[in-house]
Amino acid sequence: MSAPALRALGLRRRFAHPSGDVEVLRGLELSVDAGELVTVSGRSGSGKSALLALLGGFDSPDAGRVLLGGEPVDGAPPWHTCAVLPQALGLAPELTVGENVALPLRLRPDGDKDGIDMRVSALLGDLGVGALVERYPGEVSFGQQQRVALARAVSGRPKVLLTDEPTAHLDAASKPAVLRLLRRCADEGAAVIVATHDDQVRAVADRRFRLTDGVIMAVPG
Ligand SMILES: Nc1ncnc2c1ncn2[C@@H]1O[C@H](COP(=O)(O)OP(=O)(O)OP(=O)(O)O)[C@@H](O)[C@H]1O
Ligand SMILES: [Mg+2]
Repeated sequence: MSAPALRALGLRRRFAHPSGDVEVLRGLELSVDAGELVTVSGRSGSGKSALLALLGGFDSPDAGRVLLGGEPVDGAPPWHTCAVLPQALGLAPELTVGENVALPLRLRPDGDKDGIDMRVSALLGDLGVGALVERYPGEVSFGQQQRVALARAVSGRPKVLLTDEPTAHLDAASKPAVLRLLRRCADEGAAVIVATHDDQVRAVADRRFRLTDGVIMAVPG
């Protein structure tokens, strides 16, 4: 049997602060298979973003390990292995929308460069922001930037996709395309982890978790 696409073992993370240390994760365990879409909910400040930072290799745990495809994570892996839609989006301001989305494909050493423009247009079109391809991130709305950052995260067909509140800034009309894309990524074989407060995202998930007091528990649909 192959290893889970993503595994977190005994993750602990404490943040030191003059006003008092915060122990955000206290031995968290999580295993997600390829092809699964899972959600992680929990009150604001419960540690969802901190967890995604550890899973994506942007932060290191005080104890515990993250395994991607059975291999330990050492720093942030390449984006075709694990890609992230951060809560703060993190688009490159000096690149156009299209260039931002193309970046993971251009950086991929083994990638076919010929189909990049078509993939970028298709993704942006699916998300309803196809007309913005030549603009810079500072020239589009925050909700539009969020969809661009999602397109960038999925463009390189990562094995693991980590998305932090991908529907937080979207209106009802823009949301279904995002839900469809997240579902499609999982159906095409990615392990998709979504931190979210949104019931509509939870509705398309295979499994749902809640982060409380530094550990994660499965919750019924
Ligand atoms: N670098 C840091 N230094 C100190 N404390 C931090 C740091 N990063 C996060 N925290 C604290 O860790 C806790 C978890 O933060 P986190 O951003 O993971 O919450 P969250 O569940 O994503 O919340 P939200 O739903 O508002 O996005 C909070 O109490 C936060 O103040
Ligand atoms: Mg957060």
